[in-house]
Amino acid sequence: MNINPSPRQLTLVKCVLFLLALLPFARLAVFTVTDQLGANPIEFITRNTGDWTLYFLCMTLAITPLRRFSKWNWLLKLRRMLGLFAFFYASLHFMTFFWFDHFFDVSEMWADVLKRPFITVGFTAFVLLIPLAVTSTNGMVKRLGGKRWQWLHRLIYAIALLGILHYWWMKAGKHDFEQPIIFGSIVGVLLLLRVVWWWQKRVRTPVVVGRAT
Ligand code: HEM
Repeated sequence: MNINPSPRQLTLVKCVLFLLALLPFARLAVFTVTDQLGANPIEFITRNTGDWTLYFLCMTLAITPLRRFSKWNWLLKLRRMLGLFAFFYASLHFMTFFWFDHFFDVSEMWADVLKRPFITVGFTAFVLLIPLAVTSTNGMVKRLGGKRWQWLHRLIYAIALLGILHYWWMKAGKHDFEQPIIFGSIVGVLLLLRVVWWWQKRVRTPVVVGRAT
């Protein structure tokens, strides 16, 4: 089935997606104001924002396979928003940690980042997300040039793997691997598809040997 929305319909889709993506944040805000965060509000917010960072990373990575399988090229126009929402929830996740766990004390936060390996890994993923968010505009694509921009944005693969490792490590302390295995498998399949496509392209592209100038 070929779905090809008009520019107006696509704008509508983007608006709906934007509002849907804000729902987890709105829910957190309502829970905070109405005192429904449970016995450990900081843990609730940290875990909730961590979960949503991972969900948005998975959704961002799912766009290319969905586009290739469905041939709905317009899906690509939603990818930037999903990636920016991953950054938005990662920033909230980090700020909860920096603010409520360490009261904006940089040296104390830094010591914790270095002391606990699962936080070292999460922090690295967050730092790697920053250049992707900064260079997400059309102007930056032009400034960097398509090829260089594409190379930089492949960092998303490393970020997703670090996100899974961070989750895995955190849950390893409690011997609770169910969720990390589910998300690890989702990310694994999404990345494996890229490897397969890269390999197929390599095999199909003829190598030009000794071309005279
Ligand atoms: C791309 C970046 C990141 C992703 C995808 C991510 C994802 C997650 C996930 C899925 C959880 C577990 C939520 C649950 O239990 O349901 C979590 C927990 C946590 N993350 Fe992250 N995270 C990221 C970055 C960070 C950063 C930058 C920090 C702090 C420097 C951090 C600190 C924590 C802490 C303290 C917990 C909770 C541990 C606990 O409650 O015992 N994460 N994160």
